[in-house]
Amino acid sequence: MAKLKFQSLPGMYDILPEEQKYFQKIYKVVENIANSYNFQKIETPILEPAELFSKGVGLTTDIVRKEMYSFKTKGGDFVTLRPEGTASVVRTFIEKGMRSLPQPVKLWYFGPFFRHERQQLGRYRQFHQFGFEVLGEYSPIIDAQIIKICYSILKKLGLKNFSLEINSIGCKKCRSCFKKELQVFLKRKKAGLCKNCQKRLKENPLRILDCKEEKCQRIISKAPQTVDYLCEECHNHFKEVLEFLDELGLPYKLNTHLVRGLDYYTKTVFEIINSNEKIKKIGTLIGGGRYDNLVKLLGRKDIPACGASGGIERIIDLMKFENIKIPKTSEKKVFLVQLGNLAKKRSLKLFEELRESKIKTIENFSKNSLNAQLKIADRLKIRYVLIFGQKEALENNILIRDMEKGTQKQIKLKNIVREIKKHFKKDK
Ligand code: HAM
Repeated sequence: MAKLKFQSLPGMYDILPEEQKYFQKIYKVVENIANSYNFQKIETPILEPAELFSKGVGLTTDIVRKEMYSFKTKGGDFVTLRPEGTASVVRTFIEKGMRSLPQPVKLWYFGPFFRHERQQLGRYRQFHQFGFEVLGEYSPIIDAQIIKICYSILKKLGLKNFSLEINSIGCKKCRSCFKKELQVFLKRKKAGLCKNCQKRLKENPLRILDCKEEKCQRIISKAPQTVDYLCEECHNHFKEVLEFLDELGLPYKLNTHLVRGLDYYTKTVFEIINSNEKIKKIGTLIGGGRYDNLVKLLGRKDIPACGASGGIERIIDLMKFENIKIPKTSEKKVFLVQLGNLAKKRSLKLFEELRESKIKTIENFSKNSLNAQLKIADRLKIRYVLIFGQKEALENNILIRDMEKGTQKQIKLKNIVREIKKHFKKDK
């Protein structure tokens, strides 16, 4: 087939009508859970100052270095299509003075994000995330609660094959010790690392722990572990998070090399990973952790925070793979058939009356023949068809045809809403 002149950009796609049910289902589940945990919804702009992410997410991260859609506006501002939501939420928290609200501030979001990644299953250039952020709370109970929320969302969606991996990367203090040790260890193995990691060795050795290259993974598996370098406070915090998880009955795996790909994390980091071996490539479904230094880094006092976000497309891919069906809403409908000029004219108003009475009505005003319209109703499997012809229009009547029974009845037009509702009630 000849290439079309206009196609969606690589890694960007349309969410077609048949895909909407997945998005709506996930949105509903996330919204209900957010409400039940007293989170409030927030929407931040899709465009933000580029520096918000270079500073917030970290200059040496893959996101900032390779994946951001950044450009200069006509007004000369350097802006970025948001690659993630946490930095934006923190910006709002600071800008809108949310520190003066009762703490902690609990916010959730749902929307599109952009990363110029190499395309593959589960990696898109425009994708969607839901996210939860809690600002103004040190307690490890929040870390556990965020994890519980993520778990509950996946369970509620009917997913079974996922597992939780958790680690603590400590605070600035303990991390600098760890970084030194890691650097010493990795320097000895430098020749075995991929080109990218050889560069990372000097700038940000922690990022090497995130590398997916097999040869780096082999080296990483023997590298020092963050948990061995935690200060007393971070150690206790992590211990308590794990105790809370035990209390909630949430199974987890300690992954002592988990650091996550964003620089703002402190203490707890976690990922909920797809564990369906047959579709391994989907990878991480939800990732998050604590980021106690980010508010200060972006301009205000020390304010502790913790959060997580989940990739909607990855969750949908897994739902489809696991054959999780979304039940069709059994909304009852009628099909309005109109025949002749007078009936067609009056049908328009009749359609409005039915719509306002909350009777879902399907029509095809562009078709004129009875057969063509009945065929559509039949294809759509609509049981009740209203037939409004020239004669009916003149006599202020209408026919109700029961497609299942093959019967039809004439009624007064003014009684139409009552009659349809009676039929619907009978079918319950
Ligand atoms: P992240 O791990 O970069 O964390 O992204 C979270 C989730 O978004 C991933 O686990 C994945 O499911 C999905 N995701 C990321 N990139 C893509 C992509 N290119 N295509 C499809 N899905 C993708 C964050 O974004 C942090 N803001 C999470 C967080 C919130 N930490 C604290 N609060």
